[in-house]
Amino acid sequence: MSENYPEFTRAEDSLDPSDVLERMRNQDAIYYFKSDMLSTWMVTRYEDVRELLKDERLRTPSIEKRIASFSEDQQAQLEGLRSALTVSALADGDSHRVVRNALKDYFTPSSINKMRPRVREVTASIFEPLDPKKPVDFVNAISYRLPAVVIAEILGVAREDAPKFMAWSKDMIKIYKQLEFSGFLEAQDSTVALTEFVTAIVNDRIENPRESADLANVFAELVKDGKATARQMASVGATLLMAGHESTAAQISKFVDAVLSDPAQKSELFADLSKLPHAIAEALRINSTSWAVRTALEDVEFGGVTFKKGQSVYLSIMSANRDEKVFPKSSDLDLKRGNARTHLAFSHGPRYCLGANLAQMEIQELANYLFGNYPGLEVVPGTREHQLLPMLRHKLTRLDVVLAPRGGN
Ligand code: HEM
Repeated sequence: MSENYPEFTRAEDSLDPSDVLERMRNQDAIYYFKSDMLSTWMVTRYEDVRELLKDERLRTPSIEKRIASFSEDQQAQLEGLRSALTVSALADGDSHRVVRNALKDYFTPSSINKMRPRVREVTASIFEPLDPKKPVDFVNAISYRLPAVVIAEILGVAREDAPKFMAWSKDMIKIYKQLEFSGFLEAQDSTVALTEFVTAIVNDRIENPRESADLANVFAELVKDGKATARQMASVGATLLMAGHESTAAQISKFVDAVLSDPAQKSELFADLSKLPHAIAEALRINSTSWAVRTALEDVEFGGVTFKKGQSVYLSIMSANRDEKVFPKSSDLDLKRGNARTHLAFSHGPRYCLGANLAQMEIQELANYLFGNYPGLEVVPGTREHQLLPMLRHKLTRLDVVLAPRGGN
């Protein structure tokens, strides 16, 4: 075990944490580090991360716990956020199992396939107004739109309400971007507004039942059966919004960037788009921005260290997915990699991402449209911008592309 995490972080690494993670992984499997923001164990290697993701002695910490770590005055300022989010029925325990069970049928491959035509339609509507000869910021003008519309429709949000819903969603993400008091405070008003809004949708659906393929009906059924309250369902809705929107958008951008940055893989993929699911698995593996933080419920002996009861354990999915022992030449997007789908980008075990099928279908549909219609697609050199996220992760914040460059195909 090492306590020297900070020595790995150098200014020149700040925009590409994968080099730092590689050095850490090579030197040690498990680290402990302290900072003003967080004190935590950090696990870096694939087999360990995979095993610990399914270890029930480690539980997902609640937002409430993070809020409780702020000063009393700060906690008082965050009361609205605390009560909006901490009633979530997706918190650990029996309610997690009940709600997960009720939601899982909604996200099976066959249910997700039924959404495909609508996702195709939304995808086309995003590209239609764009001038294919002019640069467009792919991250902000394209990737964010599709998952936002899809999740709004899944939650039963009326089309005219979608813009305000998306604005709330952008604010809420600040909770996870910074993990700091300021981020929580900035997210508070929107989170409260959003949970009230979803509570109203669920209550309305209970009072005025109607045939609909959205999740509001599933939420209303759970409330009618006494398995959850409308507020709890609203909190689940907020979780789905945050979980489903930002991460899918981030992965769409990173996938397109990864393909366009590798001419050999690009031409192989463009020549045969049936390789898309494999290419998406590879991009998810290489670019995992997902994270998994746990709290030890009891003392847990692991890999020569003890995670003491109450301590935080950060399982670095990004590092695990680049572990050379499991994925040789791990930073390459390899269309022939045999074990590409064993990546951990969607976690593993009891918390495995509920939206994994949906996210992959959205990325597939968008990429299919983009690569199929714009084979000459190019990145505008010098426009790639990144942002460093907590816990050695990073995301693209800008990537200009020209869909059909003059003189191109
Ligand atoms: C490429 C996009 C996505 C990635 C990489 C991703 C990744 C993850 C990961 C790593 C976890 C588990 C974290 C942990 O173990 O603590 C998770 C959980 C979850 N994800 Fe996703 N996710 C994505 C898209 C989605 C979408 C589209 C939805 C739904 C609309 C969704 C809904 C959820 C939910 C509800 C959970 C919590 C499951 C539970 O606690 O039982 N995710 N996701």
